[in-house]
Amino acid sequence: MKKIQSVRGMPDVLPASSARRQWLENAARRLLQACGYREIRLPLLEHTALFARSVGESTDIVSKEMYTFTDRSGDSVTLRPEGTAGCVRACEEHGLLYNQTQRLWYAGPMFRYERPQKGRYRQFEQIGAECFGFEGPDIDAELIILTAELWRELGVDDAVTLELNTLGSPEARAAYRDALVAWLTPYRDDLDPDSQRRLLQNPLRILDSKVARTREIIADAPSFMDYLDADSAAHFEGLEGLLENAGLPYVVNPRIVRGLDYYTRTVFEWTTDRLGAQGTICAGGRYDGLVAQLGGRPTPAVGFAMGIERVLLLAEALDAVPASVDRAVDVYLLSLDDVHTSAALALARELRAQVPGLRLQLHCGGGKPKARLKRADASGAELALILGEDELAGGKVSVKALRAGGEQRVMTRDGLLKELLQLAAARNERPAMKGETASE
Ligand code: HAM
Repeated sequence: MKKIQSVRGMPDVLPASSARRQWLENAARRLLQACGYREIRLPLLEHTALFARSVGESTDIVSKEMYTFTDRSGDSVTLRPEGTAGCVRACEEHGLLYNQTQRLWYAGPMFRYERPQKGRYRQFEQIGAECFGFEGPDIDAELIILTAELWRELGVDDAVTLELNTLGSPEARAAYRDALVAWLTPYRDDLDPDSQRRLLQNPLRILDSKVARTREIIADAPSFMDYLDADSAAHFEGLEGLLENAGLPYVVNPRIVRGLDYYTRTVFEWTTDRLGAQGTICAGGRYDGLVAQLGGRPTPAVGFAMGIERVLLLAEALDAVPASVDRAVDVYLLSLDDVHTSAALALARELRAQVPGLRLQLHCGGGKPKARLKRADASGAELALILGEDELAGGKVSVKALRAGGEQRVMTRDGLLKELLQLAAARNERPAMKGETASE
């Protein structure tokens, strides 16, 4: 019988990769919480209309990439392609926006029916943050600096570039859109088919085209900067000043228009040239109009989301994942004989209770002493703790260094405890100190 395989573009995350994701997610969570962001958990399914009204009918995401179906009661529902729309919906529904500010974060899977390739999947995970009720560029700067800090912690900062742009007010954007369409229309037949379609539906996206002939044409197109409204220009200048004072380099890239309709003013992308075509690891911007567009009171808002798979691919390409991340266990505890299994179980519980964060695996499944030691080695642990007749009689433990030369010592419980506390503390240090790599 033919075996059933996973759905295309929806990869399994096996334990080795899962540990690396946890490393990344823990670092992001710690940073966000250190800045006072609180977690919001949102459903995977939303009413289809939510995305049509926020991300936009004419975007690629809504027009061709959504997993939409009719549920048993006849409602059209969609697996969320992104997190911002659901976050706004939830905040409105629960009154989190009126007369207050919010700093929120979320993590989880998103779904887009895209053509799968390296760094692009149909189910992928994002960690995102959304802030509501802040008008000025200080919060834009906070979010961008926070992501820069994460790249530094993960050891990928040398390989990423911050690209910034402003899309201005909706009015400025509409005026520019008209000017762009008027300018491009005479070249219509020379544009690539995608851009021809976009000319009618979403002309700003043409600026983002990768097709050589289209790029040639748009090189001389009117510049958005000539249409930018004064308030948005001041906002952008304010943000630039804050980033410069923070010592954060960036490039202004007028081609960043984003593939979602809700943006106003600031938009940004963190890009890398190490991942081929899928080089955007994190993206976001301001969406001051979205809350009102979804029926709430006008509320300024800004946020970002990063693609976990892409950030991890980058960390792996740079060899930035610390070796300790790949180690499933620190210590492997075995008795030499089944008559001591109860003593081993008791010692395992005692050590786990006394050493926070210690990963201690107990030998199960019997076998000869040699086979037990082989399993200890295969576990990847740093140390094997061995309980035999002599050790138990003397209240001691034999400790074998599995990685460093195989040295074996007989230790007292106190001595052992000290050593394990050190081992666990080393594991629990902040993630990837710069320069620490998997090969060390
Ligand atoms: P987005 O640019 O559509 O923005 O996605 C954000 C990030 O998710 C991308 O930069 C990329 O790293 C990752 N990503 C997107 N699609 C895929 C895919 N098919 N496979 C793997 N990774 C992918 C948003 O989603 C906005 N909600 C961001 C935002 C939040 N803006 C304001 N607040």
